[in-house]
This record gives sequence, structure tokens and C-alpha cells, in this order.
Amino acid sequence: MTQPVSVRISVKPHVNGHRSASATAYAMPLEGPLVDTYGRVHDDLRISVTDRCNLRCVYCMPEEGLSFLPRHDLLTFDEIFRVARVARELGVTSLRITGGEPLVRKGLPSLIRGLAELGFDDLAMTTNGTELAPVARNLAAAGLRRVNVSCDSLRPDRFAEIRRRGHLAVVLEAMDAAEAAGLLPLKVNVVLLRGQNDDEIVDFAAFARHTGRIVRFIEFMPLDAQGEWDRSRLVPGHEVFERISAIWPLEPLSDLPGPAPAERFRFSDGQGEIGLISSVTQPFCGTCNRLRLTADGGLRNCLFSDDERTARDILRSGGNDADLALLFREAVWGKFPGHGINEPGFLSPVRSMSMIGG
Ligand code: 5AD
Ligand code: SF4
Repeated sequence: MTQPVSVRISVKPHVNGHRSASATAYAMPLEGPLVDTYGRVHDDLRISVTDRCNLRCVYCMPEEGLSFLPRHDLLTFDEIFRVARVARELGVTSLRITGGEPLVRKGLPSLIRGLAELGFDDLAMTTNGTELAPVARNLAAAGLRRVNVSCDSLRPDRFAEIRRRGHLAVVLEAMDAAEAAGLLPLKVNVVLLRGQNDDEIVDFAAFARHTGRIVRFIEFMPLDAQGEWDRSRLVPGHEVFERISAIWPLEPLSDLPGPAPAERFRFSDGQGEIGLISSVTQPFCGTCNRLRLTADGGLRNCLFSDDERTARDILRSGGNDADLALLFREAVWGKFPGHGINEPGFLSPVRSMSMIGG
């Protein structure tokens, strides 16, 4: 790796400003790992394959009226392979397929097969589970390692209220199918909303104990397309911890390596694990190792920053791999230290979760 040279540079202030206008920094390295100005190494890429979804979760999208990207704006599978290959060469070891709902994009197993051939250590997908059961085996055979299935209620009527479309029974079947296909460990993502499903915390903990699936409680983040996020609807991770551990004591799983955002706990008395993703009340930005590629080829260094650089223009104007590599390096180098949600003047990003990729 090139030795960083200490220079003084000017950095443009940002609306969610976390930097002074002038900061001591290093020259951007042109080889070695993807490191930012705070020393964070980026080895995790999330690739969104579509901004479309067959559900309309209340914390994500309005019921009607959201417009989606025209199909020709989406990166083709070949374009995705190329970006992923460059990322792999730059030290990215972990890949996650996201959306929207990834499985509404046709031919996903062939995308997975091509990505698996690039040799990532981890290849996972986040899905709402509605279309997963019939393709779980194909995806596993293509090289997918594991899935995270979103499921915000264990009560059918509630599920329908929160997700507006789809059926709980189908998602529960999808979890069984994923396990049968060997997509393990299975993680279940639960976005908690005050007054809507926060009375199911203990039910979900029991579900984790009975099934062995890792239930991850996610704080509601200001990433809904409607812009209706309100801190009063967020259920803080510490509350989840207190409510579960009052019934079943929990022990931290601290021996796990890596900068995982979830604080992981196991039940002291036996099987089961839960995770707390407290992105708002306990940000994990200090160890963030993530980059995101939107379905239309935007490279983003943070869910909450509108600093986005287009890989698609490079791909479609004859750019080479070195141009793509430089784009990665610049995206990482431009990353801010944190999302700033808890600071005055925070503005939600222009693109919402389903447009960026979770
Ligand atoms: N806040 C928190 N989590 C969200 N997700 C989607 N929108 C939000 C939001 N506003 C979750 C989905 C999925 C993961 C990718 O992100 O439920 O589990
Ligand atoms: Fe679809 Fe996921 Fe958004 Fe729900 S949270 S509407 S499943 S993209």
C-alpha cells in the first residue's frame, strides 16, 4: 500500500455537516484496500438489483404513487458483474443483494451464479420472502450462502397492516424453504414501530428461541419515501434488550469479529440469538465498512448521504476498470464520519431506502 502523505486539503461542508471546512487529511491511496479518511476499510458491498417491490411496508413506501426507475436505467447483469469484479479486486469480500425486493427482478439465480464465480467470502440477500420459497433451492445451488427475511409481525392481520400486501403464511413458508435449501443461518429482520408492533417483542424473542432463527430488531430510520419518519415511532434497541432480558436473560456475543452493525446476544439458558440494530440511538458509523450500489448504478458511501457517483455512466461510455476502481476509491475517500441523524439540521437523503437498497 502507498504510504499516505500528510497534506492539508479543503473539504466542502455538507448539509449533514460533520466536517470542518478545512481538515488535515491524507492523499487518497491508489492501491491497497478501500480505506477512507478515518481509516475505515470498506470490504462490504450491497448491490440493489431493483427499486421495485411487491409490498408497500408503511415504514418504507406510500401505498400508491411512488414512481420507479425505467427499466433501461437499471444496470444489466453484465454491468453488475463488472462492477462486482472490480470491487472484488479492490478487496471487497462480502456481497449482499438487495432491492426494493430483489426477487421481483427476473433471472436472479443467474445473477447469483455469476457473482458467486467472482469468489466473495460471503454472498447473501435481503428479501421480503414473498417470492422466495419456489426459488430458494435454485438460489442456493447458484451459490447464494444465506438470506435475511423481513417479517415485522407474527400476526396475520398485523402483518397485513404493516406491509399492506402479501401474507404472513407465505413468508413463514419461505423461511422453512430457505432453511431446507441450506441458506443458513437464517436471519429475520423486524422493523419495530411504536404502537404498531412493539407489543410483539417478546413473541419474536420466543420465535427466535423456538426456531433457532436470528431475529434482528431494527430501529425505524428516516428513510421512508413518504418522509413521515418520526422519532416518537422508533423503539430504541435498549428497550428491546430490557423487555426481553426481563424474561429470558441475554448474554452478549462479543467474541465475533468484524464491524457488524447488530449487537448480538444469545439466551443464557439455551438455543437462540437476537440482534439489535440501533442505527439511530447507537450509530455504528465508527466501524462502518459498507458501500452501496443502487439499481441504476449509483455508488453510495452511506445510506444517509446524497453523495452518489454514477458507475453507469462509466459503464455506458466506454470507461475501463481503472475508471471504475477510481470511482470506488473516491466514493470511499469522500465518506463522512457519521450519518448525523441526531444532529440539528439533519436532512433525510433524497433517495429513500427502496431506491438505495437496504
Ligand atoms: N427503517 C428501518 N428499516 C427499514 N427497512 C426498510 N425501510 C426501513 C426504515 N425506514 C428494512 C427492511 C429490510 C431492511 C433492508 O431494511 O425491512 O429488512
Ligand atoms: Fe418492499 Fe422491503 Fe420496502 Fe417493504 S421494506 S416495501 S418489502 S422494499
